[in-house]
Amino acid sequence: MRIDIITVLPELLKSPFEASILKRAIEKNLVEVYFHNLRDYTDMSYKQVDDYQFGGGAGMVLMIEPIDKCITSLKAQRNYDEIIYMTPDGQTLDQKMSNRLSLKKNIIILCGHYKGVDQRVRDNYITKEVSIGDYVLSGGELGAAVLCDSIIRLLPGVLNNETSALTDTFQDGLLAPPVYTRPREYKGDIVPEILLSGNFPAIEEWRENKAYERTKALRPDLLED
Ligand code: ADE
Repeated sequence: MRIDIITVLPELLKSPFEASILKRAIEKNLVEVYFHNLRDYTDMSYKQVDDYQFGGGAGMVLMIEPIDKCITSLKAQRNYDEIIYMTPDGQTLDQKMSNRLSLKKNIIILCGHYKGVDQRVRDNYITKEVSIGDYVLSGGELGAAVLCDSIIRLLPGVLNNETSALTDTFQDGLLAPPVYTRPREYKGDIVPEILLSGNFPAIEEWRENKAYERTKALRPDLLED
């Protein structure tokens, strides 16, 4: 998979890709991630990429021309399955969306900034608008990092234990069951006996029950359908 991220703040975005699972995925060539600084696509003085909005109103708007130049040059090199715009009024990211996007070959992610982008970008270039939740961030960069993390960890070979993404919270529509590690007892608090029993079918059943109980208590909305 290849991900091209267009941003005015590449330095804000890079560090999540330089540690842990995402770093290893890139090193193992399981995913290619490229950052494109929008300021490299403007001919204006001071590398301007934003301007005041027509009709007045507070906040700057990212201009169409540098975005057009960047997207057009990327599209001339390969086909893209999705051109995603990160925005608080997009479709809310969930596990199903991440699963679907992890099957794509090439995607572009455009990070908004300031008041957002000229509407003509959204009308003419964007195929999907994604929000990471009902709150407003200063820009799309942190959202893009969240989206990429949730996709990349699903790519085959990225996690050491392939089954571990399958048992994630949400993957089967339920929250994950509780997990424990050593020591068996800490200040009188003991790990559930069943987990030490070696009876794997019984452990599996216990986990399923716990996942269901937890979902019912914490996220009953997930059980609705
Ligand atoms: N940009 C600003 N807020 C955002 C959000 N909640 N999700 C995605 N991109 C954003």
